[in-house]
Amino acid sequence: MEGTRMKEIPNKLQQIKEQLLDVTDIDQIKITHELIDDTPYKTKNYLKYMHDEYYIQHHKAHLIQQSLKKIPLKANRERFQNQMLPDLISNRHSLRDYENKQVDFETFSNIIHYSFGVKNYGLGAYNQKKYPFKYTNSQGGLNYLDLYIVALNVEGLEQGLYYYDFIHNELCLMDAGNMRPLINDIHFQNEFTVYSNFICFIVADMERVVPKYYKRAYRFSHVDTGILTAYLQLIAEFHDLGSCSVAGYLEHKLEDLLGLSSNDYPIVSICFGYKPEEV
Ligand SMILES: Cc1cc2nc3c(=O)[nH]c(=O)nc-3n(C[C@H](O)[C@H](O)[C@H](O)COP(=O)(O)O)c2cc1C
Repeated sequence: MEGTRMKEIPNKLQQIKEQLLDVTDIDQIKITHELIDDTPYKTKNYLKYMHDEYYIQHHKAHLIQQSLKKIPLKANRERFQNQMLPDLISNRHSLRDYENKQVDFETFSNIIHYSFGVKNYGLGAYNQKKYPFKYTNSQGGLNYLDLYIVALNVEGLEQGLYYYDFIHNELCLMDAGNMRPLINDIHFQNEFTVYSNFICFIVADMERVVPKYYKRAYRFSHVDTGILTAYLQLIAEFHDLGSCSVAGYLEHKLEDLLGLSSNDYPIVSICFGYKPEEV
């Protein structure tokens, strides 16, 4: 069995799978939902939510510390002018064919910063002096999603794998080199991904959210990822870049590339590139 979770608890998983052999997919969803929906309304365990304070962590500090290089983003707010939201919403569609054209660093920075970057600091939230809130909202305002980016063709940016340090608005280089073969390998039957300019992987770190929302956190991590994905795609559209969300990835290969633990859940991959010239 492959994948970090499969390797960690193979016997338990096997036992459960055997019990579910005769259960239809739709009923397996029912069972999974009821198991992870642990609100007090259902469990009647009201004390569970009276928890002590827990340690707030906004990102993976070790990835930032160990990165090979740090590249500050250059976002430019002044470029957000003269375009109507309804036009953006209507024009966006999944793009799976990309122009061979480099994306400039400012455009790239705007897409990343105005979706995943810090919008403002709350004073006193979670007993923190300065609590960073992102442009995109999330369950409890907790910062538990991680953004990994593979740059394939971005102006002035070395090809490679980056972790976005949203607090310092910097890209942290984790691994340099041409990642196209790996990207092709990861995105099973979605070869178009290798022709994109860059690819974002959204990963939920359950260790940073389960202390507050327990098992329900899993469910809402998908809502939060959806919100973030929509911002990324609409801001890209504003800058004339097309994009496509991709669920067709091999989780264990992505886990290897990003070095994820069994508590890190990759939720979606999104690739970005220019629309081909009309002929
Ligand atoms: C969560 C999610 C996963 C997706 N996965 C894939 C995928 O693996 N491959 C692909 O070609 N398109 C994928 N898509 C794109 C959808 O097919 C597309 O959004 C849908 O057909 C609607 O078309 P539109 O985006 O052009 O409006 C995915 C979309 C979402 C929201």
